[in-house]
Amino acid sequence: MSRFAHTQVFNNPKIFVSGWYWTFPSHELKKNKIKSLNLMGREIVIYRGASGDVSALDAYCPHMGAHFQEGRVEENSIRCGFHNWKFGSSGACTEIPCQKYKDRCANIPPVTTHPVQEKYGMIWVHAGDQNKAATDPLPYFEDLGPGADLEFLVGRRTFRQCRPEVVMLNAIDAHHFNAVHPEASLLADGMEITAEPQNQRMIRLKNTTGLPKNWIGRILQPLYRNGVLNYKNEYWYASTGVVSLGPDFLQFRLIFPHRPTLNGGTEGHMIFLTPKRRGILGKILARGILWLTDIVGSYFEKGDKNIFDSIKFAMRAPVKADHAMIGFIKHTEAQVTQSMPWVERDNELKGAEVVAIEVLDEERITI
Ligand code: FES
Ligand SMILES: [Fe+2]
Repeated sequence: MSRFAHTQVFNNPKIFVSGWYWTFPSHELKKNKIKSLNLMGREIVIYRGASGDVSALDAYCPHMGAHFQEGRVEENSIRCGFHNWKFGSSGACTEIPCQKYKDRCANIPPVTTHPVQEKYGMIWVHAGDQNKAATDPLPYFEDLGPGADLEFLVGRRTFRQCRPEVVMLNAIDAHHFNAVHPEASLLADGMEITAEPQNQRMIRLKNTTGLPKNWIGRILQPLYRNGVLNYKNEYWYASTGVVSLGPDFLQFRLIFPHRPTLNGGTEGHMIFLTPKRRGILGKILARGILWLTDIVGSYFEKGDKNIFDSIKFAMRAPVKADHAMIGFIKHTEAQVTQSMPWVERDNELKGAEVVAIEVLDEERITI
């Protein structure tokens, strides 16, 4: 039996990798609106304040546990819909309408907040080890840098009945192109993908071979200066794929973030990107590239849906052609993880219970 048959992190439904996860496309959250989602088993709310800033908090009010989805946004704060307590974006309670003294708020445990960023038309939340949020970068294209000015098109949501790590094998399994994506195999014929870990969070999986020795290869030859078919996947936090392919002058770029669900599935969302260009013509060209990227990305994404919805992953008989996937599996094994379902720490819950009861007792005595 292969030593890859049993992994601790890869394909383990009881954990997730600590890092940045997609939540909602930015356009789905208007000003003064609240949306909720279950992120790896943890219920959170995300709201956009009057200033346009986005905040992410645990979903349950420290007072009695009402869900903040039933509340409302006021300026950049959220007000619980049950007894109208107000909480700022830092999670601190700032108003208890039934209490005479404002300083009572100081006794209320804050709601746990989550680091949030908006980029590529998507709202991202850092999940897992909060201490790492400040140093964990949001995934980016290494060749363009984290500050690149990009045009984007937010594509479709996807769902697969297997873990994110398994879904991500799709793009680095050159071996399956022939069987599942026959049109692409004309281009991918002879492709050799190497696995190069760049740091603890990110591994680069890229093609190192030249153009195929067929008619397609001959047509494309003039477009590739160094003769290598550019196909590169940068995998961050074993959950987000940053993909670029195509010749230098026409790179198709995609970001494909995934998050695991409690039932062992994966929710994903495609994003197509290209560097911003100047002027009207630049804008039209960028739109055209994004539209083409959508076609290319969707072709690969749809082709093996049934395979990934029914797979029971276990690499019991790896062969040489699987070495890029094995590199990714090894890198995944070294990730920082958090158990699933992702729950509040015990001390936060205990603190909330004790303080709330003290405040109640005080109220009873003064009545
Ligand atoms: S439960 Fe939120 S204010 Fe009472
Ligand atoms: Fe595929």
